[in-house]
Amino acid sequence: MGIWRYDGTASSDEQGARKKPVQPVGVDMGELRGTHVPVLLERCLELLAPALGRGRRTVHVDATLGLAGHAEAVLQAHPETILVGLDRDTEALAHARVRLARFAGRVHLEHAVYDELPEVLDRLGFPSVDGVLFDLGVSSLQLDAPDRGFAYAQDAPLDMRMDQTRGVTAEEVVNSYPHPDLARVLRVYGEEKFAGRIASAIIRERERGRITSSARLAELVRESIPAPARRTGGHPAKRTFQALRIEVNRELAALETALPAALDRLSVGGRLVVLSYHSLEDRLTKQALAERVRSTGPIDLPVELPGSEPTFRLLSRGAELPGEVEVAANPRAASVRLRAAERIDPQAAQRGRTDRERYRRRGKAMHQPGTGSATGSGSDPRRMPGDTTDEEGEGT
Ligand SMILES: C[S@@+](CC[C@H](N)C(=O)[O-])C[C@H]1O[C@@H](n2cnc3c(N)ncnc32)[C@H](O)[C@@H]1O
Repeated sequence: MGIWRYDGTASSDEQGARKKPVQPVGVDMGELRGTHVPVLLERCLELLAPALGRGRRTVHVDATLGLAGHAEAVLQAHPETILVGLDRDTEALAHARVRLARFAGRVHLEHAVYDELPEVLDRLGFPSVDGVLFDLGVSSLQLDAPDRGFAYAQDAPLDMRMDQTRGVTAEEVVNSYPHPDLARVLRVYGEEKFAGRIASAIIRERERGRITSSARLAELVRESIPAPARRTGGHPAKRTFQALRIEVNRELAALETALPAALDRLSVGGRLVVLSYHSLEDRLTKQALAERVRSTGPIDLPVELPGSEPTFRLLSRGAELPGEVEVAANPRAASVRLRAAERIDPQAAQRGRTDRERYRRRGKAMHQPGTGSATGSGSDPRRMPGDTTDEEGEGT
């Protein structure tokens, strides 16, 4: 699958359009709110509503709190919901704390990487939760900050850590990785065609002196790719910056651990929504969900073996895309892919299945052989009318 989204740094037009300085923490969030538009907000709220609005106290995890746009809307829509908000970026948490101050009694904000979710929930005493949202990638705050090094269009120290309290910086990656590792990072995470050439240019440059600034790196990348390629596909450095950001923050490894952990904690009827901006994130999401929505029993058995039933059902048909209106209003939404699923009660699902099996058999008995089944749901007895399979859901 190709990488269809570059979100680490926006196109030069987008970057040019975003000039507003980040507000210092503790001042009015008004301006930040105005510049920050939560992606697919209405759809996320719609998907989460049945899980969170159940006439009892519910718990929602925002695993990527950011500027708390989604979180604020969830708290507003569900007065009985408690929010557990995670972010690895202390600056984002500080902004979110201001924004969510009026909900303070039902908000827990945690400085954590999202693969630490089980430990956070144990510490807070929530064995299960009802909603989980992952809105992956970087926030406007991080992209727009002039000193964090995420954007190729602004000169800054090569940092790119979402959590500036720990971990290696992009400067360390660029100045220490051997050629094969650098090239792999650029090729896999950035889908950079000229990964080898760029890695060679970086190695040559660092022999002359340490590469410390985002502007120098961006220029180096531009110089190392063929002239015709510089004129197509946006800024030549965008893929390199994206790749370095993913490597520096170990984004995919954390996601691979976090998704199953989040699914494990959902109550029956609980829902997970994931917004991905990169094909590798979306692929990990798709795989994590596929494992839960399929039976693990033998395909040719007419009934499920206990413990082999699917434990989730998909709520999205494949990956959902944003509408044109949203993309026009918020270019950062352009490459989002949404997937969602709900935990089901395997026993109840099995009972429903058995009822429908009976119905199907009755339907078959009423038809002559060769005229098709009453339900049209195919030859797999475990597939129900209206079931969405991963294969059917593919297509983006
Ligand atoms: C796209 S923003 C979220 C925006 C948020 N939904 C809103 O409405 O403001 C992504 C946030 O997730 C955080 N983040 C990314 N990877 C993370 C991880 N592995 N663990 C915790 N937070 C992470 C980033 O620091 C960033 O603040």
